[in-house]
Amino acid sequence: MQSQAASVSDYDYSNFFYHASDDPFAILEPFNEWLRNALPHGYYLFSQAMSTPPQGEIRLTEGLRGRQLRLVNLSSYNYLGLSVRPEVIAAAKEALDAYGLGAAGSPILSGMMDVHVQLEEDLARFKKKEAAMVFPTGYSTNVGLIAGLMRPGDWVIADQSAHASIVDGAILSKASVRFFRHNNPADLERKLKQATGKKLVAIEGVYSMDGDVCPLPELVAVAKKYGARVMLDEAHSTFVYGPTGRGVAELYGLENDVDIHVGTFSKSLGGQGGYVAGSRNLYNYLKGFARSRVFSCALSPVVAAGVRKSLEIAQREPELRDALWANVRHIRSRLEEEGVDVGDSTSQIVPIMVRNDRRVFEICHKLLGAGVYLQPVIYPAVAKHRSRFRVSISAGHTREQLDEGAAILIRVLREERILV
Ligand SMILES: Cc1ncc(COP(=O)(O)O)c(C=O)c1O
Repeated sequence: MQSQAASVSDYDYSNFFYHASDDPFAILEPFNEWLRNALPHGYYLFSQAMSTPPQGEIRLTEGLRGRQLRLVNLSSYNYLGLSVRPEVIAAAKEALDAYGLGAAGSPILSGMMDVHVQLEEDLARFKKKEAAMVFPTGYSTNVGLIAGLMRPGDWVIADQSAHASIVDGAILSKASVRFFRHNNPADLERKLKQATGKKLVAIEGVYSMDGDVCPLPELVAVAKKYGARVMLDEAHSTFVYGPTGRGVAELYGLENDVDIHVGTFSKSLGGQGGYVAGSRNLYNYLKGFARSRVFSCALSPVVAAGVRKSLEIAQREPELRDALWANVRHIRSRLEEEGVDVGDSTSQIVPIMVRNDRRVFEICHKLLGAGVYLQPVIYPAVAKHRSRFRVSISAGHTREQLDEGAAILIRVLREERILV
């Protein structure tokens, strides 16, 4: 048993990317054979199904034995707990009655409903920009934006920890793509010096796997020196940072120095979708050139209406942010007291470094049995040998849930000798 466990853990997804065959299906059997061996050991058990909303306590069907588990959930984004706010649910239900389920068309053709227009206007007002454009997901926002704007011969220079949607948008644009060392303005400068012509610097407010904040003033100063445009993805920092929740750009007073603002609805707003906020000229251009929006059905009007309500509540109730930060401080101090390695995180995203894929899956399983839902994060979401757990804190967590979760986590990390 031990040796089989060792052999399955010698491989990961990256070993099944290429296959020497003329048949695209030839990779399927070797991959599935490896996966069949790995699953009984608790590895790669992704997508275990939840039967409750993504809040502090959930029920989950365990992938291995099909057991129904009650768990403290430390994995979901829902940073302000808005996905389950009664007013948000009521707004979505009302929209379901008014519009039906789907938009039944691309936003450039027949898919734009008044609720989408209102949401875009609300977002533009919130971000204090001339215009905001809604996309069906955060992923398609970055892909549509970058591939819509950049061309072969141009340069996209992104932080090496940039989200896959930024990387994929850059690749799809066929511009030259370079990565600078994470949060390192000096390395950004080195990369910019090598680039000629049109340049876009792509960065994030809070990095989704490390939970650290970007050094925006230094990065913006370097970008400006080399005439590059800056896009800032505030997926994880909107309604977390900034005096009124407008993110890291607001925190640093640099909202007008960032050329393109990106955000998602799937994090603090508890919904789904994404947006680009900027000038009216940018909006008009992307309307024709952001192919992930042009050639995709508009966001469901039901979600659009729910997100409008979330956005209204998040602006109206800054106490939600206070509650989130109180929870963040509470759990971070528990973890730090115990000497947990949380890397450079300073935010609501708290990584727990394990640095070994096999161990991260084993511990994940043990945590499920002990009452905590915590997702393993491995390659390609993070670099190889940087595997970890990622704790996500919400204003919706009760103190009891956080204390129970932290106590279980610390006990298991000790038993597994991650904590000594
Ligand atoms: C920085 C960043 N941008 C974009 C996305 C994609 O957003 P969505 O999941 O809403 O498609 C994510 C997802 O986690 C993210 O972390």
